[in-house]
Amino acid sequence: MAHTEGHSQADYLKLIAEMVAKHKQRTYELMGVASGQRVLDVGCGPGTDTIPLAKIVGAGGQVIGIDVDEQQIELAEKRSAEAGVQNWTEHRLGDGSNLPFEANYFDSARSERVFQHTDAPIQLLNEMIRVTKVGGRIVVLDTDWSTMSVDTELINIEQRIKRFHVEKGFRNGYSGRKLYRMFLESGLEGVSVEMAPTYVTDYQIGRRGALLDETEDAALAAAVISQEELDVWHRDLENSDSRGMYFAAILQMLVTGRKPK
Ligand SMILES: C[S@@+](CC[C@H](N)C(=O)[O-])C[C@H]1O[C@@H](n2cnc3c(N)ncnc32)[C@H](O)[C@@H]1O
Repeated sequence: MAHTEGHSQADYLKLIAEMVAKHKQRTYELMGVASGQRVLDVGCGPGTDTIPLAKIVGAGGQVIGIDVDEQQIELAEKRSAEAGVQNWTEHRLGDGSNLPFEANYFDSARSERVFQHTDAPIQLLNEMIRVTKVGGRIVVLDTDWSTMSVDTELINIEQRIKRFHVEKGFRNGYSGRKLYRMFLESGLEGVSVEMAPTYVTDYQIGRRGALLDETEDAALAAAVISQEELDVWHRDLENSDSRGMYFAAILQMLVTGRKPK
């Protein structure tokens, strides 16, 4: 997947998990997770959310995480064993667009920062709905990468790099803005939206969080930007950084719906 393979690297996922910790917590609240329940995390990565969810549902419940990446599944299994929740927590290799579960199996289902990586977001949502019980909540947290903004006067350069990142770095980089419509079109009830903002004032963290190294290299190779422009852009951001004034922000959309009868 072009220049954004870094999205699955362990250090990257850890960094973002720390940045969006309160949004993760909010997804658990919106799911209505409680002791004894069965819950699903689609695109679970290294178990960042399955483990806290397992602690909420307890040994009488069940948490299943599913991911297309075998390495993520192995790591998630290792971590759930370390956390002592392995007896009621399972991580399985699989595609969210074709879930290996019977209908109405889970009390609720979540997916975070996964829709942006798929060509098949509608199938993924429909599968989450199918395997959730009537009345159960489906919660999706996803980014609209076009909302990424950096405090710079070099608007033209910023916009070109960003547009390249959104459209070439992801299968579905505008994902977040589409969720409300998708939830309504899929027939979910009680659909609600919360905005989940994140900002960064550390330049190096901002670069890593936006995968700027990879994105700039790819934009340069694609002739979207010249080396001279990149040099000016770097000098500008380094100048902000040296004055302690670097600022970047991005929005995620947190959408919740209930499975109808
Ligand atoms: C950016 S990571 C987010 C991981 C995790 N949800 C979190 O919040 O830390 C995206 C994950 O989605 C997985 N993924 C992408 N497409 C998928 C699909 N169709 N079905 C299941 N997992 C998928 C990737 O392998 C990766 O682990």
